[in-house]
Amino acid sequence: MNARVFETALHESRPPAMGAGAARIAADYIRQRAGDAMSHPLRPPVCGIVLGSGLGGLAEHIVDAVRIPFSHIPGFPTATVAGHAGQLLVGTLADRPVVALAGRFHMYEGHDAALAAFPVRVLHALGAPVYIASNAAGGVRRTFEPGDLMLIADHMNLMYRNPLIGRPEPGDERFPDMSDPYDRGLRALMRTAAQQVGVPLHEGVYCGLLGPTYETPAEVRMLERLGVDAVGMSTVPEVIVARAVGMRAVAVSCITNKAAGLSHQALSHAEVMDAGRAVAGRFESLITEFVRRLPDGG
Ligand code: HPA
Repeated sequence: MNARVFETALHESRPPAMGAGAARIAADYIRQRAGDAMSHPLRPPVCGIVLGSGLGGLAEHIVDAVRIPFSHIPGFPTATVAGHAGQLLVGTLADRPVVALAGRFHMYEGHDAALAAFPVRVLHALGAPVYIASNAAGGVRRTFEPGDLMLIADHMNLMYRNPLIGRPEPGDERFPDMSDPYDRGLRALMRTAAQQVGVPLHEGVYCGLLGPTYETPAEVRMLERLGVDAVGMSTVPEVIVARAVGMRAVAVSCITNKAAGLSHQALSHAEVMDAGRAVAGRFESLITEFVRRLPDGG
């Protein structure tokens, strides 16, 4: 490392691999790989989608998909959690150009919040105006059953980390407004899509915790009193970055289990994956219908 690079690195409060410049490099690589495979330039996607645990089946609905392993994408670490295939797909869903990620980076894997949210910067650099997150979550609302779908109305960040800590990235809002993090118009569109395909859709507050332990029953009682409906270990950093770069965000939780203490069963990752697969058909038709209804340019 020469002296100047070292100086720059010293003054970077965040490793450069997670910022806007690195996202442009990753996006250029994806454009080139997809363009070569499709023999025409990549159309700007109407949205970018991240598929949560057990929900990767939506990827099979993406037509003419170009699949790029995460490990090939500059700046991406390799996915490590079972159930996360670790592939980025470029193609069409409901005849609309989309980019989807089967897999994500969690903070419980040891990643910084900024790295957990880095794929959203890449989706933004690819021109996606809308970010769609999905996740597996534990049901804190007592009436929730495994297999329910919940549209996220709002979130609580109990990860106590923020992906925007440090020097602001060029183009980022320094103090992003979070009074409507999950876009009102997109939520209405998701409800309409749910009605159209006959998929029951609840709505509630998602709380992000660091994990990797599931919660204790005492923690779940606390979350219940705080007004939490579903609890998980992702999504929050991603949506914060989506807001900072000016993307509209919408998110759906798949309730894979009753949160700890609300049933007599112990929690396991295998159970989470099984429940995700059981709800996959409904999730896939919901998101496909939503994408069909998205306006051009988001
Ligand atoms: N807690 C946290 N994250 C989860 C859960 C849970 O009960 N289920 C699926 N992801």
